[in-house]
This record gives sequence, C-alpha cells and structure tokens, in this order.
Amino acid sequence: MEKYLEEVRNNIKCREKVIAQLYSLIGAANEPMPESIFVYGHTATGKSLVIESLLKHLNYNASYINCMEHLGSKHMYNYMLADLTASINEPSSDVLSNYSCDNIMDFILALKKILHSDQRPIVLVFDKCHRIRNFDVTFLPAVLRLRELSNVNICTIFISEITWDKFNTKIGTLNPIRIYFPQYTKEELAQLLLLDKLAKYDTDFYKNYLNLFLSVFFRFCRDLNELRHMAKVNFAKYVEPIESKQIDPDNVTALWRNISATLRSNLEVIYLRVSAGDFSQPDYQISREIESTTKLALSFELPFYAKYMLIAAYLASHSPVKYDQHIFMKQSSKKKKKIRSIKKATEIDLKKKTRIFTVSRMLAIFCAILDEKVDINANILAQISTMCQLGLLTVAGDHSLQLDEPKFKCCTSYDFVAVVAKTVGFDLKNYLSMSID
Ligand SMILES: Nc1ncnc2c1ncn2[C@@H]1O[C@H](COP(=O)(O)OP(=O)(O)OP(=O)(O)O)[C@@H](O)[C@H]1O
Ligand SMILES: [Mg+2]
Repeated sequence: MEKYLEEVRNNIKCREKVIAQLYSLIGAANEPMPESIFVYGHTATGKSLVIESLLKHLNYNASYINCMEHLGSKHMYNYMLADLTASINEPSSDVLSNYSCDNIMDFILALKKILHSDQRPIVLVFDKCHRIRNFDVTFLPAVLRLRELSNVNICTIFISEITWDKFNTKIGTLNPIRIYFPQYTKEELAQLLLLDKLAKYDTDFYKNYLNLFLSVFFRFCRDLNELRHMAKVNFAKYVEPIESKQIDPDNVTALWRNISATLRSNLEVIYLRVSAGDFSQPDYQISREIESTTKLALSFELPFYAKYMLIAAYLASHSPVKYDQHIFMKQSSKKKKKIRSIKKATEIDLKKKTRIFTVSRMLAIFCAILDEKVDINANILAQISTMCQLGLLTVAGDHSLQLDEPKFKCCTSYDFVAVVAKTVGFDLKNYLSMSID
C-alpha cells in the first residue's frame, strides 16, 4: 500500500485515510473481498477519482459503470459482461461468445465462466448509483450479495452523493460497508487548487493568490470543480497588472486592492458562468441590446431549473390567469376541452402584453411544465433572485408595500425565451398558441 500511496501522491491529495481504508478492504488479490462497499460524499470530493485510480493500480478485472447511462438492469448486465470479457488477456472461445443476459441468474452464470478463464478478482463499480432506485426492486438486493450468490471472489462498489438510508432498502438486504468522503477543508482546497498552477508562476506567489481567492469564495462554495474554474478565470485578472508592469509581483496589498472588486462581482455569478466581462462593466445594460438575441441568450449559461423558471415566468406574464387550468393542468379525462375564443398568438400580441404575476403562480406553472417531480427548495427559489439580478425578471411595484406576496414581471423578449426553451427541449409555441385571447 505504501507503494501505491507514493505513486499517487502527486495526483491525489488529502485522501490518504479513505485510500487506506479501501486498500485494506480490497487490496489483497488472494484474500476474499467484502461483498459490497458504499462510497458516499458530496460532489467533487474525489470519489470517482480515488476508486478509478485504485482499481487501475490493483489491475483486477473491473467494470466501471455510470448508472445514469443505463436504462435498466438488463442493459447493465450486458454492458458489464462485455466490459469484463474485454479485459481478459487470453479469452477462451467460450467466454468470447456474446452474452445476452436477461436476468440475474444468467448474469451469475456468465460471471462464473469469466472467473474460470481469468483468475483475477472481479470488481463492479456503480457510479451515481442513486439511479438504481428506479430499477426493478430485486436488482439492488441481488447485486449487493453477488459474492454469496455466485460464490466467486467479486465485490460491488456503489458510489453516490446520497446516504445509504435514502435507498429505502427492505429489511433483509445486506448492508454494505460504508465509506464517507468528507468535504475538503479550506487548507485542503488550497492544496488541491495548487495543482492547477501554471509552471511559469512561482509556488508562493500562487499560494498567496489562492489565499485571497479562498478568503472570498470558501464561505459560499465548496465544490472543487467550480472553485477550480473560478480560480482560473480570476487568476487571469489577477496577473493583468503585473503583466502590464503596473504593479510589482511582490506588492500583495496593491494586487489585492486591484482584484477584490472582480472577485466579489464574480462571486455573484458563481455557478451561472456569465462571462465576467458582461457583468463587471457598468454598461452591461447595453449588451442586452445586442442585435443577436440568440447569442445573448446562449451566453447566459443558466442552470437547468433556472431555464424552466424563466420559461414559467414568461408564460405567466403572457397568458391570462383564466386559462391556466386549461393549459397547465394535466388532463385526467380523455375528452379534450375546447376553448373557442382562444386564437393563435401573434408577434404583436406577445410584444404588447406583459402581465404582472405572483411568485406562487410562477412556481405552479414551473411545476406543471417540468416533466419530473421537483421539490421547491431554497436552491430553486434562489434562482429567482439571481434572475432579478440578471435583469430577466423585475419586481413589480414597491417592495415595501408588498404585504402579501411579491409580484414580478418578466422582462425578456419572446426570442430570448424561445432560445432558452430550445436548449432544454421545451416547446414554447405549443403553450403560447393557446394562451393569448
Ligand atoms: N483529492 C483530490 N486530489 C486531486 N484531484 C482531485 C481530488 N478530489 C477531486 N479532484 C478533482 O476534482 C474533480 C472532481 O472529482 P471527482 O469526479 O472524483 O468527484 P466525485 O466525488 O466523483 O464527484 P461526483 O459526485 O460529482 O461524481 C476531478 O477532476 C478530480 O481530478
Ligand atoms: Mg463521480
């Protein structure tokens, strides 16, 4: 194990403890492995990275699958078998024959055959395994105790962002060994971000920058992926005055004064990926009048739910309340209601009518147009204020006078929303054509 830790020291930081745990569980090829391991922790805490690298080092016969990519258990069985046979060095003709596996019994028989021609232990990794909850109910209990059922040295590893309790497994299913990947601390994040340092900059200089950067960002964001992106974007701004020889590289105070405003304005658009230029310049209003709305709409990399929220806001402000039930309620009976007075929306209609709507109406439409079930949580509600800041929505009326519920107005044009709707595959016209009277 020492050898392995030494080997990955440069690539994987701050994870010695979990690596040691995992290594002690599956590290010895000649010992039986545990039946299953459940690895969990927040996003970007290195779960996939650690497991992948460990399996590569151990050189077992392993199949790594992302459950999001599979439709159901049958699809997965065949994929895994193809994966496992592909890595056998000298496959016998028996193993090479194409498997067509319908159920867990076929799968187990195939696994036995594979282990017969290749003695290496088998490891199956299910990444993003929360998806398994949508599969048939027997899948999870079966793969959890695959070693017992098949009697070969096999271990299944599950990787997830949610805890094991959320899997609602019935009593009697085997409880896997749980390994938790804790979130990184500020110091650890500084070490991890240091990995992205460009060779031409001095380590201490970059450390200094990261210190400043994390002092602003750490309280709001712990997602390593996002922080890496932001650190990179802001570093370019940080070194600008040095490259133009206005500030000396050693003058940290001046550099800080120069960068602090940019950092703060970028903090507001974290996760949004609005390019910093649009935001920091006072005349960003002008950019809203860019001729090509498409380009502008695409330059707003809104999160998925924010896009739907924007569409909901647009629909709320362009369709009268009295038709809401007709347009957005899921029809329970087969017979279709017809409203004769509804005519097709025309371009002019869309331009002149913008209604004020309440938050609850917008949220109701939001839930109606989303196919999936969604919890209205703080994350989603936060999108509303972000959209206000971006100028996509405005609060209607005086803030202080709104005793009951805030009311909003949608400030975007049809073209803009149409582009956004297209990126999520939502047919905006379909809803609008009925909604204007
Ligand atoms: N300890 C670490 N050392 C070096 N790089 C790391 C470490 N942890 C994470 N990273 C980097 O951060 C990125 C995200 O890590 P990874 O994909 O392993 O996270 P994850 O926990 O699997 O996240 P998710 O739950 O979203 O799948 C990767 O590019 C990885 O290289
Ligand atoms: Mg992952």
